[in-house]
Parts: sequence; structure tokens; C-alpha cells
Amino acid sequence: MVKQGHMSATIIAIDGPAASGKSTLARLIAQHHGWAYINTGQMYRAVAYFGLLSNLTLPEDEFAAIGIAKSLCFSIKNRTLLVNGEDLSEKICLPIVEKVVSAYAAVPDIRSLLVSKQRDIAKTQSVVMDGRDIGTVVFPDATLKIFLVARAEVRAKRRHQELQDRGLDNLPPYEEILRDIEQRDAQDRERTVSPLIQASDAILVDTSTLSVQETIALIETLLKETPA
Ligand code: CDP
Repeated sequence: MVKQGHMSATIIAIDGPAASGKSTLARLIAQHHGWAYINTGQMYRAVAYFGLLSNLTLPEDEFAAIGIAKSLCFSIKNRTLLVNGEDLSEKICLPIVEKVVSAYAAVPDIRSLLVSKQRDIAKTQSVVMDGRDIGTVVFPDATLKIFLVARAEVRAKRRHQELQDRGLDNLPPYEEILRDIEQRDAQDRERTVSPLIQASDAILVDTSTLSVQETIALIETLLKETPA
């Protein structure tokens, strides 16, 4: 339990590399317990998406990108992130956004703005939050920290399937998705601010050979074993 003001709330932090299954698991666990779910990757994706719409290029347009991060209003409705009141999930999952998002996420001022918005949303409720720095930076005192990994080939296959299921036009070939995932991971691991790294007290869960249900069962067991 994390003491927040007069409230005790459960905070579950799920971090890990691209397409490791964080959002699927985090949402299902939150749903099961009736907790909020915050997909912090969608917040970075939203900033990148509006940056693309404004034809920004980083690092040249960093100042304007920070302006975008400042101007966006994030809220949660039924475990869906709303950006200025709108569900942008379909638009921000596009490969074109994924190619630039890590550059936006490496800008210190963008991170500090989004981290403070993330902490605000979680102030009054129990949450499952997924991202890259939740256990290390956003909630270092989280109730339970999971570092979710899977082999890059498995992650690329899952992301390819996910995009196919969404009926994406111009579906990139598997090889390109694999290359993009590896590139994004490298950028996220090598950045100076809040790099992707396993918190010392996070539990490593490798889903390469686990189904969603098996992974959930494992996390639920870990949660039961976590001291309140
Ligand atoms: O779904 P996937 O794992 O592919 O990515 P995501 O969680 O939507 O995150 C998209 C990008 O946002 C990541 O590649 C990071 O660059 C950035 N991100 C971050 O820096 N910190 C977070 N807490 C969440 C995402």
C-alpha cells in the first residue's frame, strides 16, 4: 500500500520494453480489481501525434513539442485515456507515431510534465500503470513492480498480429516491425532521463512462452504474496 494523503491506495507498476504485453495485462488486472488503469505510453504517443500533425521535427522543435505536452488535458474514462476529452487509441497506435515517440519521450521537460499528470491522476485511487519508468521514477514506492519482458521476435510477432487485427492499411512487414521495436528499445534504454531499466525491487516476468491468462495468474499470485 502507498500512503497518499489520508488515503491508502494500491499501485501496480508494470514496466518493460516495447510490445511486451504491458497494456493488455495492466488493463485486465485493473478491470479484475475495479481499479483505474493508466497507459502512460499513450500520453507520450499523444504528444508525438500532435507533434506530427504540426510538422515538428526533434530536436529542432523541442520548445514547440514541450508546448504541446503542456497544452494537452488528460483524463481517464472507463480505463480509457482521453486526450482533450477524445479517445485517440486508434490514431496513436500507428507505426508512424511509433517511429518518432521515443524522441519525444527523451525530452526532460516533456517527461516531467507527463509524470506530474500521471501522479495527479493516481492521487485518489488505486491504479495499475504501465510504462518505462513507473517503478523507477513515477512511483518508486509502488505496491508491486513488474518488469515484463519477452524475446524481441515474440514481441514483433504479437505487435504485427495486433496491427493486422485492427485492419491497418499498409501493414508494415514483420521484419520492419521487429527493426522498429529494437530501435525504440535501444533509444528508450540509452536516453539520459529515466531510461528503461528494471527497478531493483521489480519482479522480472518473461512472457515469451506464457499466454495472457498464465501471465495474469502469475501476477495475481505475486500480488497475493505482497505484504499489504
Ligand atoms: O505499447 P508499447 O510498449 O509499444 O509502447 P508504449 O508503452 O505505448 O510507449 C511508447 C513510447 O513512449 C515508448 O517507446 C517510450 O519511448 C515512451 N514511454 C516512456 O518513455 N515512458 C513511459 N512511462 C511510457 C512510454
